[in-house]
This record gives sequence, C-alpha cells and structure tokens, in this order.
Amino acid sequence: MMERMLSIVLLAAGALFAQPPVEYRIQRAASPITIDANLDEAAWQQASPVSAFIYNWFTAGEKEMTTAKLLWDDENLYVAFRSFDRHISAYERKRHGPVSKDDCLEIFISPNPQKVRNYYTFEINAIGTMLNRNKSDWYTGGATWEPEGVRYRSTFHGMASKDESANDREWILEMAIPLRNFAKDAVNMPPRAGDEWRLNLMRTGGKTNAQQSTWSPIPAAVHSFHSPEYFGKVIFDGGGARRTTGRGRRGFSPAVNAQDAEEGRALYNRSCTICHGPDGAAGDRAPALGAQRRYLRRTEDDLFDAIRNGIKGTLMPASPSSDLEIRKMVAFVRGLRAVAIDVNVAGDVGQGESIFFGKGNCSQCHMIRGRGGLLGPDLTNIGAERKLDHLRAALTQPKEVVPSGYKSVTVTTTGGETIRGVARNQNNFSIQVLGVDNKLHLLLRNEIRNLKVEEQSMMPAEIDKSLGKEGFANLLAFLSRQARASEASR
Ligand code: HEC
Ligand code: HEC
Repeated sequence: MMERMLSIVLLAAGALFAQPPVEYRIQRAASPITIDANLDEAAWQQASPVSAFIYNWFTAGEKEMTTAKLLWDDENLYVAFRSFDRHISAYERKRHGPVSKDDCLEIFISPNPQKVRNYYTFEINAIGTMLNRNKSDWYTGGATWEPEGVRYRSTFHGMASKDESANDREWILEMAIPLRNFAKDAVNMPPRAGDEWRLNLMRTGGKTNAQQSTWSPIPAAVHSFHSPEYFGKVIFDGGGARRTTGRGRRGFSPAVNAQDAEEGRALYNRSCTICHGPDGAAGDRAPALGAQRRYLRRTEDDLFDAIRNGIKGTLMPASPSSDLEIRKMVAFVRGLRAVAIDVNVAGDVGQGESIFFGKGNCSQCHMIRGRGGLLGPDLTNIGAERKLDHLRAALTQPKEVVPSGYKSVTVTTTGGETIRGVARNQNNFSIQVLGVDNKLHLLLRNEIRNLKVEEQSMMPAEIDKSLGKEGFANLLAFLSRQARASEASR
C-alpha cells in the first residue's frame, strides 16, 4: 500500500517536470559525406535541421544560435553542428580532458528508449579534442570510454589553442559515429526504419557567453546535461533519401522546421508587414514573399543574409533581430514557398494513415495509391502538389467555390430513384453523376425529374474539431508525405 502511494506521488512529480518532447526524423544520407568540417555535401544541404536550441539555465550575455542536422546509413550516424559564436576559444588538448570548459559541442545518445539511462557521450571542443563516457549497465570500464572508429573534424582541428578573435563568426563540427558502437543496447543493428532512439545535442563553455544550450529542453532545476530522461526523440526515417533528392533538385535545400516557421510567422508579422504585407502574402512596397515567382534567394544562408544585412540599393533594411529570430523568419519564408512535403510536419504518420483509412472515413471518397473511393480527388501526390496551408484549409474550411467536377448533386429520376454524388460531366442532353456508391451513373435529360445542385462540397469541413488536436496533426503529417515515386525522385 505504502509502495503504491509512493509510486503515485513519484508519478505526479514526474508529470510536473514533463516537457513537451522534441522529436526529429533522421533521414538517410542520399549521397556520400566527407568528414572535413565543411557541410557542402548535397546530403547535408538536403537534411532537415533540428528545432532551435533552448537556453535552459542562461544567466547573462548574448544568446547565440546553434544549428544541427543528423543523417544515417547502415554504417554511421552523421552529425553536423554549426555554432555561431563571436568569441571562440579552446585550450584543452588532452584526450578525455575537461573539454566542456572550452567552446564545446556535445551529443549524448541513448540507443534504446526502454533503457534511456544507458547512454554514450561525445564531447568535442573547437580544436578537436574529444571526451567520451559510457553510462551503460553492461559497461565495466573506467570513467571514460573508447568508441570505435569515430571520425570527426572541427573548424580549428589540431590547432595548439584557439584564442578569441575579432573575426570570430562560427565554427563547425562534422562527425561520423559508427553505429556498431551501440550494438549492445540498440534493438536493431543497423537500425530499421521507424526505430526510435533518444538523444540530446548540446553546446557549452568558452570564456565569453557560455551558452549551455540544448536541443531538447532540460528544466532549470535539473541543471545537468546528464539527464537522459529529457533527451529528445529521434526516429530513423527510411524514406528520407528519396524525398530529399527531389527537394534538392527543385532548389529547396533542407526541410522546413514547422515549429520554427510558426514562431517566425509571429516575428515576421511584428516587423515586416509594412512592406511585405501580412503573412507575407502581398505587399505594396516589396515582393510578396510567398508568391510563385523566380526567387532571387533560395538557400537558407542567402535568405538569412538578406534579412540580417538588408539588400543594398533597395528598400529592404537590415534587421535588428537576433540571429535566432532571423533563423525563425527564414523558416517562415521558406515555409511560405514550400509544398507540404518540403515541410517537416510533426505528427505520427502511421496514426495518420490509420485515421485516413479508418475512423476518419477519408478513403470512402479519396484514393491513395489505388486504395479508396472515387468521389473526391486522388490524394496520392497531394504532399508534392499543395502547400501545407492549403491542406490545412482544405480540411477545416468549406471551399467557397467547389471546383468543377466535384459539384454535389442530388438527382431524382422519372423512375423514382434518388442518386446523390458529384457531377462529373454535364451537357444539354445528359449528366454523369459519380454516386456515393462509387459508381458512375449516365443519365439522359428526359430520365431526370429533378436535379438539385448543392452549394456545399461533399468534403466535410472542421475535421480539426471532429478528430481533435492530436488526431488532426497526425492526419496532416500523413497527407503531407504523400508523393508519387516519380515526384519524389525527380
Ligand atoms: C521598408 C520596406 C521593407 C521592410 C520593412 C522589409 N522589407 Fe524585405 N524587402 C523589401 C524590398 C523592397 C525587397 C526586394 C529587394 C530586391 O528587389 O531585391 C525585399 C526583399 C526581401 C527578401 C528577399 C526575397 C528574395 O527571395 O529575393 C526577404 C527574404 C525579405 N525581404 C524579408 C523581410 C523580412 C523577414 C522583413 C522583416 C524583418 C523585411 N523583409 C522587412 C522591403 C522591405
Ligand atoms: C463524402 C466524401 C468525402 C469525404 C468523406 C472526404 N472527402 Fe475530401 N474531398 C471530397 C471532395 C468531393 C473534394 C473536392 C471538392 C472540395 O475540395 O471541396 C475533396 C477535397 C479534399 C481535399 C483537397 C484536395 C485538393 O487538391 O485541394 C483534401 C486534402 C481532402 N479532401 C482530404 C480529405 C480527408 C483527409 C478526409 C478524411 C478526414 C476527407 N477528405 C474526407 C470528398 C470527401
């Protein structure tokens, strides 16, 4: 009895500290990666960034941005960090020395979500000194650990020391960590598509502006990077490589982080609408940022530069916002231009699929890859055809004008039969109705007693309300990933 009460109290305390879990899908590397502290490979260009780092127990100074991306193949987990830093310093050169007092980037990995306390650490300072620890129940070695075959390069790799300098802007860390290091804990080796691991990415140290920032938030009261309960969720994505190829060729580099884009929208609406118009839709004095035109600036870096420094010789001013805020506005602008599959829509795709073919009733009227009904448009390629906002609106708001071919009609025949469906073809002599029975009915005028055309589409609206927040998010995530193979590999 006491024991049970105690566990209830502990559960309640756990709930108090619970943070919204951050999640990231690790895509497969679409092309080879050279470990040289240079992230110019197509694979990195196309990979999605993780969401913005959090300053968990920040005290003073300037908050500086860190971005990170992960990729995988059957051999390695690849890690890329960009650490924007105006004061870069590192002195520790001894293997396993206390590198975290220097400007330092870290990745902590739990390969099994059932055993998060089994985790492995990689801490590397700006001059390329590494410290590793292993906190697994099977590990009997000392305080430090020797992982096998890790390859990595940092921007100042091998320098005797790095002092702060006036030109400091950023440093990069690129790593390939052989997955075999995690074979004792991981459920599958190599991981299978859909496998979940937990990990956190961190930045620490340096003399000026020590950030102590992390990808997955850690409560200030916990105040330790060594808290695997707060690691983020990562999922090995099997289909990433094919989709990212398509993205790259169309000129969009990485997928847009949806949460950053949403926060970027708010920032944009605060300071940019005078010229560009609300939500970037249309402006009097500047281009509509979301319009379909040949954009001058497509890459993240170019957009970042335009917003931070302005565009010389035009009205476009430099922005006083922080780097982090600018990055979010970049995500917002890219989100305006991207089709749904380019946006890393959060949600459980598998759950979304069961809703589509199950309780959501969508497949009663829509087909995906040959499965489902005929009344509504085929949605096999919808993620590559439509923007995310369009999809969201299609599911929540009734269309003001129902597109031709989908007007709802109810026909009563002279024989007394009633047929409900959508009017596909119509002329003076006949009408073709695709009925709710999924059959095509050809009716001649003289067979029709009454033809009623309804204003409302057959497409149900307010699906966000009927499914609830989570179900709706999952459905949207599923729809956003629907693309034909030819589209995906184009
Ligand atoms: C005083 C008017 C003005 C304000 C305020 C303004 N812009 Fe601009 N912006 C412009 C003009 C004009 C251009 C087009 C410049 C050109 O012709 O290259 C532009 C271009 C851009 C571009 C480049 C588009 C492309 O692909 O080439 C981006 C991105 C952009 N603005 C974002 C922003 C953001 C974000 C803000 C708010 C922080 C902002 N702008 C505030 C006038 C403005
Ligand atoms: C009773 C039939 C019916 C059901 C059930 C139905 N739809 Fe539709 N849907 C339609 C029709 C007809 C259209 C085309 C007319 C329109 O856009 O209003 C449509 C349009 C759409 C569009 C817009 C496509 C585009 O290219 O713009 C999307 C997306 C969509 N439906 C998704 C769904 C999802 C997801 C569900 C399940 C929650 C669903 N539909 C349930 C009939 C249906």
